[in-house]
Amino acid sequence: MQVAVFSTKSYDRRFLDAANAAEGGRHAFRYLEARLTRDSAPLAAGAEAVCAFVNDVLDRPALETLASGGTRLVALRSAGFNNVDLAAAAALGLAVARVPAYSPHAVAEHTVALILSLNRKIHRAYARVREGNFALEGLLGFDLRGRTVGIVGTGKIGMAVARIMAGFGCRLLAHDPFPPPELAALGAAAVPLDTLLAGSDIVSLHCPLTPDTRHMIDHAAIARMRHGAMLINTGRGALVDAGALIEGLKSGAIGHLGLDVYEEEGDLFFEDLSDQILQDDVFARLLTFPNVLITGHQGFFTAEAMQAIARTTLENLSSFEATGRPANPVGPLG
Ligand code: NAI
Repeated sequence: MQVAVFSTKSYDRRFLDAANAAEGGRHAFRYLEARLTRDSAPLAAGAEAVCAFVNDVLDRPALETLASGGTRLVALRSAGFNNVDLAAAAALGLAVARVPAYSPHAVAEHTVALILSLNRKIHRAYARVREGNFALEGLLGFDLRGRTVGIVGTGKIGMAVARIMAGFGCRLLAHDPFPPPELAALGAAAVPLDTLLAGSDIVSLHCPLTPDTRHMIDHAAIARMRHGAMLINTGRGALVDAGALIEGLKSGAIGHLGLDVYEEEGDLFFEDLSDQILQDDVFARLLTFPNVLITGHQGFFTAEAMQAIARTTLENLSSFEATGRPANPVGPLG
């Protein structure tokens, strides 16, 4: 099958080529560096499938252009699919596939890396020691043992975080409309969101972005949190209201903030912008706080996860070619 791969980086090419070679080079990849938007969608003309990533924008106009260019399958290289207008895709007869689980451990372990770094101020200690500054003022952390971690969304990633934090001796609170039975074995209590916010020293977000969860952490939610609590978001940027985070940091309501995702990340992340002037004033303000640690959507980025993403993407393409249905469909038409 002809596949137009958008938002391609060298690492995407490397892992997709290896997975395709393992299938005897069954598919022809057209690698495109451009992000997929309504403006770049014509680049896919003639490709039966497009392969897209988290910051590609598959809104109705983009999908219309893809469909009229002969595309029949959108194969996402991600678990989240909030960037696709599924109703429009179905109306246009476009199937949509995703990679439901590649390595929940990759994202969970990155989440814990943020928690540990923020708590023990590793980001600050690293810079200090390189400057010959061995003072400890400002580096005071806390024992994780005995602290309460609130996990919002106890799916694959949230549960992986829960298991790791249970290993540190943390108490666990969980909020999920469908809490898994395994929670009890970890000694975790399933509670309403407000109870979780009020009772947690660390709040970590692992639910999908939907109209219901958009800005679930806003001014009101921050006011309900324990004063000085740590907030971690490795889910999707728009789960939090970034303006409210800045107010929360200024007042001390948020004691530590770790982000791997940002609502407006589409204009920033995955690119080297180091010689440019940062135009996003909210993002720039967030970077000024010593107790904020931001990574550029790298939670998924381990060798194991990249291999699994490539393998599952190939499965989606091959099963669609053989049966007209991808292996991991999303939405009404899959
Ligand atoms: P999953 O589908 O296994 O789990 C999501 C859980 O959230 C489910 O248990 C669901 O019931 C729950 N949920 C739904 N609505 C909720 C609500 N309103 N409040 C609380 N919980 C709710 O998904 P998985 O694999 O654990 O991924 C979670 C999210 O992590 C993805 O949707 C994606 O946005 C994000 N992600 C981030 C990555 C990164 O690189 N930073 C990589 C992969 C995923």
